[in-house]
Amino acid sequence: MGQAMIGDSLNFKVKPLTPYFGAEISGVTINCDLTDELFAEIFSTWVDFGGLILLKDQMLTTKQHIEFSRYFGPLFGDPNHEPLQNTVSRYMHPNHSQIYRVSNLVDKAGDPLGRKGAGTYWHSDVSFRERPAQASILHAKQVPNCGGDTIFANQASSYDLLSSGMKKTLEDIFAWHDFSIAARTQYADKIVVERDMHGDNQALHPVVRTHLNSGKKSLFVNPGFTSHLDGFTYDESSVILKFLYDHCTKPEFIYRHTWKKGDLLIWDNRVLMHYAIMDYPDDQGRYMERCTVIGEKPF
Ligand code: OGA
Ligand code: MN
Repeated sequence: MGQAMIGDSLNFKVKPLTPYFGAEISGVTINCDLTDELFAEIFSTWVDFGGLILLKDQMLTTKQHIEFSRYFGPLFGDPNHEPLQNTVSRYMHPNHSQIYRVSNLVDKAGDPLGRKGAGTYWHSDVSFRERPAQASILHAKQVPNCGGDTIFANQASSYDLLSSGMKKTLEDIFAWHDFSIAARTQYADKIVVERDMHGDNQALHPVVRTHLNSGKKSLFVNPGFTSHLDGFTYDESSVILKFLYDHCTKPEFIYRHTWKKGDLLIWDNRVLMHYAIMDYPDDQGRYMERCTVIGEKPF
């Protein structure tokens, strides 16, 4: 790992979450302590620990959550920046166009307070755009007593452990990412906004991308949004992708996060995919707010 090891920072403690990736940072209260210097240390720890940082007990306001997230870069929904896809616009915070709400709660009128069952499949946020998400920053405001965990798969470690033959084979292959893939299987009903199915929500990305900050290579395909490999038939493509997905989701590449209220989890969609486990009953409320940083065009 890079420079951020346990005890390295003067400003916080760092504890790994798994041997491969992820770390908990403790001793920081974002809304009180945030400075450029502190952010630079959080950011380098995030990169060094494979793009997953947990900060517990963060009682941020929605505004503070947005302000912190902007340190990573512009957000989907920021003024003069593109919004998330229209299909989720009804789940955005009514007063903050940057906040996507994931929840099974409804208000007094019976309207949803967030997207129920969001991300219940392996995916990398917004991978179907020309510039997919960099960080997603999810703040847990209400969690079920039990269940509702999120699992993360580290696609840099899984890339590293491919054979040199497979790495070479994948080198120049690109894959199509398409919102309609998830829309047809997961959203599968009237909430899909038809114009999300074309144009801006389809993109061609390299199957192996290089991380802008760490220089590390990782796989960048996911079952949720990747439709097929460019220049391959669907049959050919699905065999290769199935192999890659089976490989990427081996238990050793996985971190499973059990949420506590106040958790702020920052994941790097350039190197991780994630899956929200919807195993909790409807009478167990779950309410999360997410800021999503606009990333670079994958290379
Ligand atoms: C997300 C998502 C995770 C969760 O917010 O991007 O996929 O556990 N949801 O709610
Ligand atoms: Mn997601």
